[in-house]
Parts: sequence; structure tokens; C-alpha cells
Amino acid sequence: MYALQLKSYAFGHSYILKYKGDKMKMKSKWWKKAVIYQIYPRSFQDSNGDGIGDLRGIIKRLDYLAHLGIDAIWLSPVYASPQDDNGYDISDYKNIDPMFGTMEDMEDLITEAGKKNIRIIMDLVLNHTSDEHAWFMEAQRSINNSYHDYYVWRDGGEDAPPNDLKSVFGGSAWEWVPGLKQYYFHQFSKKQPDLNWENPKLRQELYDMINWWIKKGVGGFRLDVIDQIAKEPDLKITNNGPKLHIYLRELNQKTFGNKDLITVGEAWGATPELSRIFSNPDGSEFSMVFQFEHIGLDQQEGKDKWDLFPMNFVKLKHVFEKWQHALYDTGWNSLFWNNHDLPRAVSRFGNDTDYRVESAKMLATLLHGMQGTPYIYQGEELGMTNVKFSIDQYRDIETLNMFKERLEKGYNKDHIIQSLWAKSRDNARTPMQWDSSQNAGFTEGNPWIMLNSNYKEINAENQVSDPNSVFSYYKRLIQLRHENEVLLNGRFELLFPDSKEIFAYKRVFYEKKINVYCNFTDQNVKCIRNIKKEDILIMNYEDFNKEYLRPYEAMIIKGYIS
Ligand code: GLC
Ligand code: CA
Repeated sequence: MYALQLKSYAFGHSYILKYKGDKMKMKSKWWKKAVIYQIYPRSFQDSNGDGIGDLRGIIKRLDYLAHLGIDAIWLSPVYASPQDDNGYDISDYKNIDPMFGTMEDMEDLITEAGKKNIRIIMDLVLNHTSDEHAWFMEAQRSINNSYHDYYVWRDGGEDAPPNDLKSVFGGSAWEWVPGLKQYYFHQFSKKQPDLNWENPKLRQELYDMINWWIKKGVGGFRLDVIDQIAKEPDLKITNNGPKLHIYLRELNQKTFGNKDLITVGEAWGATPELSRIFSNPDGSEFSMVFQFEHIGLDQQEGKDKWDLFPMNFVKLKHVFEKWQHALYDTGWNSLFWNNHDLPRAVSRFGNDTDYRVESAKMLATLLHGMQGTPYIYQGEELGMTNVKFSIDQYRDIETLNMFKERLEKGYNKDHIIQSLWAKSRDNARTPMQWDSSQNAGFTEGNPWIMLNSNYKEINAENQVSDPNSVFSYYKRLIQLRHENEVLLNGRFELLFPDSKEIFAYKRVFYEKKINVYCNFTDQNVKCIRNIKKEDILIMNYEDFNKEYLRPYEAMIIKGYIS
């Protein structure tokens, strides 16, 4: 299937010809230099004491974000929603959920952020809606209703679904509607029916809605599970369906194409080859995609993320190397360690006990030293950690479904809890830790989900004024990215490829270069020589040692090709 797509989309067009001219144009795109900050609105800042973060809360914290130096905010969904999947189940794309505020608050956020040169990136969920969206309510009335075909339906008998495709959140992907004697298809919860992209009227409605948001002045879009829109459920194809790139090109042309917006597609099934198409420098699809290859390395083939497995560090290096090479000058990478669906970076890839501060900074150095657009997930800039909840403290639908399912299958309860501590999406969803006051300054009411109990030690107030904090380190790193052309344009070369301790690489741009060294262990490791203090652009220890790297030590060193 991939080969086919490549043939028709990459080579069928005037791809090669257009490419050269566009390359120069694309070099100056603002989002290549930008650092994006992801906000999960429910957990960022509450402004009215109902225990849920909201848009006014974000506006109140814009100074903090401006101080950090980020260029844009990716806002997880704030649209009207029954909140079955925390807003990724949208019932009205053109309204704000009252829980988060009003459309006026949204407009104020765009304006106020704009004054600080921060753009707002909306999260677009185009693969499915809520089952409470007006389209689906209509669609369910009768098979002759004009909205019926906006969704994916198949005939079948009760208890005899069309096939055994599973929902990502557990159970069958097919839900029976007795009144219609049909099943509808849902890749996520049954309250998230999949949209039928084959229907041109549906597509046009989505485009109109997107253009309406563009007119409001948003800075771009993050496109939720976008590689799943062209599903072919009869063939059991969920992502990268044969018509995917036809749809994406149409979407681009009818909406954000030729506008100065950032677009980032979420694509769990992306390969380097596909990502060159998704992020083609000719601008025909997106600016970039989120691919997850590095995220799957602590998972075994054929098993799922809950079956804990140690990460293969050497493989991690080779995966990054592969992507850095694959998209150099032919696409663009997004760089991230975590988001609202993933565990906290420092707990997963670093050491969140003895070396929390060092390893949080090390991970930041490693990622921000590469080519691409870095994404910081709220609280990552403080080194926030995973949380150890008891089962009644979890809120996430995926977590709760999995717990039930595994208990029924006879798994040991303590083992399931271990998996949750490592992998539950709620690790990332505990409230932002602003200060050491009650509820960490997140809310004056009852928080919708418990805080991580370490907030008295780990919080923004402590860190903003401390030059050696994780926060201050991120601030310097962001500044460096804004200024340094080697970070922007340099070619990537992995150093010590087989080392089990060190992740090091070179970036080279004409005669200039930088070297990035990161120690992934809690031991001293020899790998550097004759480093001069004045060449260090940034490092995560206060004093200088030129002979070896200390536990989780990281540095970026400038130089010239000799
Ligand atoms: C994406 C979102 C996730 C959501 C899912 C369904 O993966 O990031 O939070 O549950 O899509 O919309
Ligand atoms: Ca609130």
C-alpha cells in the first residue's frame, strides 16, 4: 500500500520540479524557528473555582508563557463537547464548551496572545464527532436522512457486527443502532462516531468550519488522528487508507494551503516515506506530522503499551537518526517527548528521583538540539513527573476501560496498577503546578483530577526566579533556538552510534557546527576531550568539567569544521 501511495503522490505530480524553488521559500517559514507549547486546558488554570481549567485561566498565565519565550500555543480541544474523551468528542465545532468559557473568551485569548507574539493553534478533530453532534443526531433518525451518510454505517445482524475491528479504547469498533438495524463505525469510544470522508458534502462542511476559524485569526491547526480519516473498514484499513492523500490535498487547497499557518497532523502510522509526503516542502499537505516511532520503543511487537518493557536505548538513537536524515531538506520533523496522551518525559526517559532536574534538562537538550519544531507539553518545563494514583483517582476513559478489561481477563490487579503508573494518560493530565499554595494555585475549588503530591517542591513559582531551574534552562534553550542557524538548518550526524550510555550528535551547516552530548546514565562517562568553556552554548551543570560527563550531564558546544 505504501509503495502505491508513493508512486501516485510523490512522483505523479510535478514534485521534483516545484521542489527546488519552494525549498528556499520554506526555509523562512516562521514555524521552523518556533517552539510550541501545548496546553491541556482542563488542567492548566482554573479562573472561576469550578475545579476545571478554562480560557480565562490561560489568559491570566500568558505572561508566564511569554517569559518562557514560546511562539505558539497548541490548545487541546475547547469546543462544545459531552467530554466523553475530554473534548476529543466534539458536539459543535463553532462553539466553546461553557466549561472552558465563551467564544468571546476565545477571541480574547487570540488577541491577548497575539499582543505577546504568541499564536494559537487549534486542535481539529476531523476523524470523528461526538454522538451528540447535530449531524449524528440527524444521521441516526433514518437511513434516508441527508446526514446519515456523514458517518460510516454497515448492515449486519444484532450481535453480528460486520467484522472484528476493535476500538482503540477497547471493545468492538461497531455499535448497533436497533432503530436503523445498522452498525456505525467508531475507532475510538462509541460516543465518537467516525465521519465518512467519502461524502463530499461532509468534507465541504468541515472546510467551511476550518475557514471560519482561520478568519478568527488562529495561527494554525493540530489535526487529530488525521491519518485515520480515509479508513476502509471493510478491508480493515484504519490508517493510511488509499485515499488519504487525495483528501489531505483537497483539505489543504480549500483551507490553510497558501496561508501562513502551521499545520501538524497526528499520524501514528507515519513512516519516513509517508512523512515526506505529509510534510512535503511544496506545502501541499501539512507543515509537519507527529510520528511516534521513538515513543513505541518501550513496547514489544504485538503487545500493547500496557505490557511494560524496557526501552532499547541504542535503538532510540537510531530511530532519531533515521528521522533526522529522512526529512532533511525533504520535509520537516516535529520534536516531542510527551503530550496529553503520553507519560511525563522525565519519568519515562530520564530519572525522576535522584536526578530529576539534571535529566529533565538533559532530555530537553537532546530534543531541542535536533532539526525540527520542538513541542513542550505543559509542566515539562518544570520537570513535572508521573503520578501514582489509586484506581478511583483516575479519570481517563482509556485507563478506566483497560483496567476493567484486564481485570475481567484475569490479570493481577497490582500489575495493572504498575502499568497505569507508567503509561496512563492521566500522568500528563494532573493540574499544572503553579505554586506551593493549596491545589498548587491551579484552582480554588475542587480539582477535577487530583494533583501530583509533589507540587510543593516542583512548581513554577520556585523555578521562574531560579536561574538553575528546569524552567530557566528551557528558557535559555528556546532563546538559543531562535538565534542559532546551525540548530535551524544543520545536517545531523550521530556520534558514538553504539554507545549504551551516551547520546551525542553533530549538527553541521556549511563551515559551522555544533556538538550535542547527553549522558543517559547516573554514572560518569568518558567521551569528551579538550572542551573549552567558552565554546559551551548551554549545559546543565553549573560548574565545568572537561574530562567526562557526569550523571545525566548534557551540553551543546559550538565549533567550526576543521
Ligand atoms: C488523539 C488524541 C487523543 C484522543 C484521540 C481520539 O490521539 O490525542 O487524546 O483520545 O485522538 O480523538
Ligand atoms: Ca473553570
